[in-house]
Amino acid sequence: MAIEFSNRRNAPPDREQRSDALNGVPVHPLEFDHDGSDDGDGSSDTSSILTELGPDDYPTYFRESEGRLFHSHGDLPYPLPVDAAEQQRLNDQHKILRDLIRSHYVGPVPEVLAPAPGPAKRVLDLCTGTGRWPMDMASSFPHVKFYGVDIVPIATRIPRPNVHFEMADVMQPLRYRDNTIDFVHARSVSLAITNYPDMLEEVARVLKPGGLFFSGEVARQPMFDSSFPLDPAVDAPGAQRFFEVINNMLARRGLEQISTRIPRWLQDSGQFTAPIIREYTIPIGDWESAPHSKRVGVEYRQVMERFADSLRPMLRSDDAIDEREFDEVVRDYVHDLYNVPGMIGLYRTVWARKI
Ligand SMILES: C[S@@+](CC[C@H](N)C(=O)[O-])C[C@H]1O[C@@H](n2cnc3c(N)ncnc32)[C@H](O)[C@@H]1O
Repeated sequence: MAIEFSNRRNAPPDREQRSDALNGVPVHPLEFDHDGSDDGDGSSDTSSILTELGPDDYPTYFRESEGRLFHSHGDLPYPLPVDAAEQQRLNDQHKILRDLIRSHYVGPVPEVLAPAPGPAKRVLDLCTGTGRWPMDMASSFPHVKFYGVDIVPIATRIPRPNVHFEMADVMQPLRYRDNTIDFVHARSVSLAITNYPDMLEEVARVLKPGGLFFSGEVARQPMFDSSFPLDPAVDAPGAQRFFEVINNMLARRGLEQISTRIPRWLQDSGQFTAPIIREYTIPIGDWESAPHSKRVGVEYRQVMERFADSLRPMLRSDDAIDEREFDEVVRDYVHDLYNVPGMIGLYRTVWARKI
């Protein structure tokens, strides 16, 4: 069993930099069966560096700060921890999004992944995180090969046979050959990608003609359900301020709000069909009366509260705000999450096919 990294940026840091950050933290290394042969996975022999990683290498991919565990790639902007608490938050969000859209996908996925003669169809999940999405999809589409890519090895160590996890920086050229992937999935990558149009160029390169691209991003702003004629600036000032503060900090890292801009970037690339946009509202809190929505709302409120917790180390390290002010910002935000009815999150999805 082994782990691999597939582009230069992901070569493990020098052994000297290893820390004991993983002690006691249930981080699961990626594993896959690798016999060194060409498995027909569409990778480019010339551009890829595939290296198996031994268990001793895993800690080199993490660094510890303020009791949380982060990726160790100093020059990448991703601000959230990657430890067990954050993994749980990502898994909870995965389940909420599944409950919300009542599926693991939006768009013509069954058509694109329908069995066909020839090599197995391939799906690439960018910034796969814990790998829950490819794992769930792999059971619905057992004839399809799923590739999950991330900068840290936090996906399950026992993937399904048709799931393959690897480490790569998706802001670098991907290792796959041109026109080899049927479906590229990019969910919740807005805190990882500083140049989305460049990433789309790579996506268009690796997708087969007719191949599908999907993006799903939750808007980073406070909002009310349309049945509540309220204004966040007036009626949820804590949430309003929280998002102002974090969006400013994220922008300083090059992480702009992108969810509304992706359709335009797809169009501007000239390589995709007209994007199909769909928006889903996620209740925050228990204000919905229908039991299903109420349950989703309660779960999503926890996810949003833990999001603030996960951002704490970034906020603390930012000179623009002192620790006392920052504590107030988070406290007032959490107050609004629990006391202001009608708040929602907005999940924006967009898909398009390569021309
Ligand atoms: C918010 S999580 C989303 C995970 C998953 N897509 C989901 O929806 O559950 C973002 C993931 O992007 C990964 N990431 C950040 N920067 C990256 C990069 N440059 N290349 C690949 N993965 C990256 C992080 O390690 C993290 O697991």
